[in-house]
Amino acid sequence: LLFLLSFLFHFPCTDSNPSIVVQQNISFYLIQISSYANQSWAQNRGSAWLDELQTHGWDSETGTIIFLHTWSRGNFSNEEIVDLQLLFRVYFSGLTMEVQEQASQFQIKYPIEIQVRVGCELHSGKITKDFLHAAFNGLNFLSYQNKSWVPFPEGGIRAQKVCDLLNIYEGYKETAYYIIREVCPRSLLGILDGAKMDLQRQVRPEVWLSSSPNLQPGRLLLACHVSGFYPKPIWVMWMRGTQEQLETKQGDILPHADGTWYLRVTLDVEDKEASGLSCRVRHSSLRDQDIILYWGHGLSVILITFAVIVPLVLLIVLVLLCKKRCSYQGIP
Ligand SMILES: *[C@@H]1O[C@H](CO)[C@@H](O)[C@H](O)[C@H]1NC(C)=O
Ligand SMILES: *[C@@H]1O[C@H](CO)[C@@H](O)[C@H](O)[C@H]1NC(C)=O
Ligand SMILES: *[C@@H]1O[C@H](CO)[C@@H](O)[C@H](O)[C@H]1NC(C)=O
Ligand SMILES: *[C@@H]1O[C@H](CO)[C@@H](O)[C@H](O)[C@H]1NC(C)=O
Repeated sequence: LLFLLSFLFHFPCTDSNPSIVVQQNISFYLIQISSYANQSWAQNRGSAWLDELQTHGWDSETGTIIFLHTWSRGNFSNEEIVDLQLLFRVYFSGLTMEVQEQASQFQIKYPIEIQVRVGCELHSGKITKDFLHAAFNGLNFLSYQNKSWVPFPEGGIRAQKVCDLLNIYEGYKETAYYIIREVCPRSLLGILDGAKMDLQRQVRPEVWLSSSPNLQPGRLLLACHVSGFYPKPIWVMWMRGTQEQLETKQGDILPHADGTWYLRVTLDVEDKEASGLSCRVRHSSLRDQDIILYWGHGLSVILITFAVIVPLVLLIVLVLLCKKRCSYQGIP
């Protein structure tokens, strides 16, 4: 394994001087989520991200990289991609074997969850920061700093032991260094130009209101749903006139499968106080034209429609009936 890794480590690397100068800060990172349900069941999931935009997936059946956009290949050659896939495959199967062996040796309880985030950041055109963090069962476990493995305090004695062990092997350290310092900057700089269109896209949110009875009688939980927007930064507030309702509660911003976002913002109010409230949404896609939806107006629009349409239909029916009857009677 180490032989293979050190062999892979030596494939040609071009220098990673940034040729594109971008104003904003941006990061590229890989995420690994490995789940072990029992001694015989393991699943490795992998993905790559440019800030909040997913760029790559990992097909664990075939052990191949999934390129999610036309530009996701960057400027890696096919040969280099084949080598990278091999590196990830060897890593995933090696890790799975290691975890299962350690689990049975030290009677570690299943299920086991390992999460890794490794990446680099571009600041004003220069790669200035990189990181590799690993978590074990949801707690910080170890990181890679300055060419060595460092335990997190939360990881306890186990993290210390794993780091001591990993630090013995130059191959692991060099592979981590290679991913962080070569693959990451090259991926980031290689896809940035192609990704620009997708990163700069602006998608307007759809907004709707709903309510549900609160646990306490006489109160309502008003919800403002904001869905399908891009990019992620957004401002949503329940208002009374120009007054921000500070008890507004914001949920997590959740992803849609198409890369856009969803947010639900709620307000707990007395039944009687609901009318006159509005939900205000500010987002870059709207420029200065905030979306404002008034509570109760949706309902009244429907009522007004009913109030106008129902009598109108009745009237038409009556007129038609009358015409028929009238013509039977021979009266024009
Ligand atoms: C790939 O892109 C990076 C960043 O733009 C550049 O430094 C490197 O020379 C390119 N490599 C190849 C093989 O084109
Ligand atoms: C970019 O990162 C640098 C260094 O961390 C920071 O000083 C700067 O404010 C950031 N710029 C933006 C636009 O976020
Ligand atoms: C291991 O876990 C998988 C997934 O949860 C389950 O389907 C399987 O039956 C389990 N096997 C054993 C031997 O417990
Ligand atoms: C990294 O290591 C070098 C040399 O061993 C040392 O000078 C430097 O302070 C270290 N940096 C950090 C952040 O630990």
